[in-house]
Amino acid sequence: MASELKNDRFICALLRQSVDVTPVWMMRQAGRYLPEYRETRKRAGSFLNLCKTPELACEVTLQPLQRYPLDAAILFSDILIIPDAMGLGLNLVENIGPKFDKPMRTASEIKSLSIPDPESDLGYVMDAIRLIRKELGGSVPLIGFSGSPWTLATYMVEGGPTKEFGLVKGLMYDDPASMHHLLNILADSVVLYLNAQIAAGAQAVMIFDTWGGILTPLSYQQFSLHYMQKIVSQLDRQYDGQVIPVTLFTKGGGDWVKDIAATGCDAIGVDWTKNMGDVRAEVGGQVALQGNLDPCVLYASPEVIRQEVAAVLESYGRGNGHVFNLGHGIHQHIDPENVAVFIDAVHELSAQYHN
Ligand code: CP3
Repeated sequence: MASELKNDRFICALLRQSVDVTPVWMMRQAGRYLPEYRETRKRAGSFLNLCKTPELACEVTLQPLQRYPLDAAILFSDILIIPDAMGLGLNLVENIGPKFDKPMRTASEIKSLSIPDPESDLGYVMDAIRLIRKELGGSVPLIGFSGSPWTLATYMVEGGPTKEFGLVKGLMYDDPASMHHLLNILADSVVLYLNAQIAAGAQAVMIFDTWGGILTPLSYQQFSLHYMQKIVSQLDRQYDGQVIPVTLFTKGGGDWVKDIAATGCDAIGVDWTKNMGDVRAEVGGQVALQGNLDPCVLYASPEVIRQEVAAVLESYGRGNGHVFNLGHGIHQHIDPENVAVFIDAVHELSAQYHN
């Protein structure tokens, strides 16, 4: 399995095969907490330029791996470049977050959307993947990713960050047909996009459903999970003789893990609001689990970081199927030294849980 990789712990753990120590990576591992990221970002001129210049995207993808013994690299990009490629016009506004020039608020605006072609409209992502694979030289696997249709739709309808989700949920309740039309176009776009990432060299893929947890249990099934299921069933799960594991991460979705596992995904991302042991008891026979240290633990002292890592490892328990991660992305004000303590603690303290 994944025999060309020098370190295949991450892939093995996702497939619930045995490993020597628990593999670890961090959501948002390439980002603003690293001074070298801030330097490259400045050089790029803008966040979008960084995403759209394969050499620079490659450079920042590799930065955290040069500092820490991480078990996977994740493509540097953003979930919002799909709507950008659909013509919505993405801007990242300092201290506010992502904004679209042309949000999708009406049935006719939604009807006018079309599916981007991954190789022509998003070719810079595929070029970045090919370059990163070359630079990694088989040291660790490369993760590709996308947003979930529901999470992409929240940004497209709201037009920017929100705490209340009134516009997108209003549209969902008031005009479900338009919402389903939008989600179908996004699901088809994500399938093409992730399959193109796999063909370009992504060795595992992850779908970020950051806003699935704001839905009611029933609307989660209908408006988020249904479309992730559709994507899982259409992905190229084998490529070039290798299995391509698929991870689904619904933030706030801890109560719905049985349904998430039933999509046929290989692994589920777990945020910090659940005990890993409890989730494992529910679905550990079907899927691997990824998580779930509270990202705020990294503000604490090295002693506390080690204790909290130990607690997550103990909660998951002995055996296969655990990929260590934070329960959500790393914050920008974290001290990079604390990240080193965290990564080392996972490797050192997890050996006793594997034979
Ligand atoms: O994990 C990684 O290291 C890969 C890179 C990555 C980014 N965004 C880079 C980024 C990934 C996987 C994402 C996913 C993403 N983007 C999600 C899903 C995961 C999650 O965090 O919930 C979402 C919801 C987005 C949308 C998005 N992009 C937001 C809300 C923001 C602003 C947030 C902030 O911290 O200011 C972005 C911008 C963004 N994407 C940054 C990075 C490193 C910060 C950009 C900068 O100022 O340099």
